[in-house]
Amino acid sequence: MMEFSESEFLIETEVPEDELIISRTDLSGKITYANETFCEISGYSQSEIIGEPHSIVRHPDMPCATFEDLWSTIKSQKQWKGIVKNIRKDKGFYWVEALVSGVYKNGELVEYKSLRTPISYETKLKYQRLYDKMRNEKNERVRKVIYS
Ligand SMILES: Cc1cc2nc3c(=O)[nH]c(=O)nc-3n(C[C@H](O)[C@H](O)[C@H](O)COP(=O)(O)O)c2cc1C
Repeated sequence: MMEFSESEFLIETEVPEDELIISRTDLSGKITYANETFCEISGYSQSEIIGEPHSIVRHPDMPCATFEDLWSTIKSQKQWKGIVKNIRKDKGFYWVEALVSGVYKNGELVEYKSLRTPISYETKLKYQRLYDKMRNEKNERVRKVIYS
């Protein structure tokens, strides 16, 4: 259970149109590389993020099913495309469309990579509603709002 106060969620970081947020992970999902844009948008430095599980940026609004789908897709060596809300180090958030796929060396799967681009306001609204509905249906209220 993650506990946050409501006010910590209010600040959105806009993802620039002309830059890609890139990261790579090992086969277990630990971050092996993050580009400068990833660091700027997430608020972490490279040394803070390398070696950490990618769930370090997991926002509590994201339903588990989305990541189950991501992992089953990439483990079957297919490319996964989806809309993700991530949490920053300072508890702000940013929305992206992510394209996650394998990195191959001599035909062997060695890592995974993700390329992320911005989405429209309408898409953010649509997915916020969808993910709220998905979490509610599965009683996944991982987000606990504390009024203070
Ligand atoms: C290459 C790659 C990139 C990922 N990017 C993200 C991401 O940006 N945000 C996120 O919450 N999870 C991302 N994940 C999924 C996480 O590994 C993790 O499954 C997810 O955060 C849910 O956490 P959990 O598996 O501990 O429940 C990524 C996974 C891979 C392989």
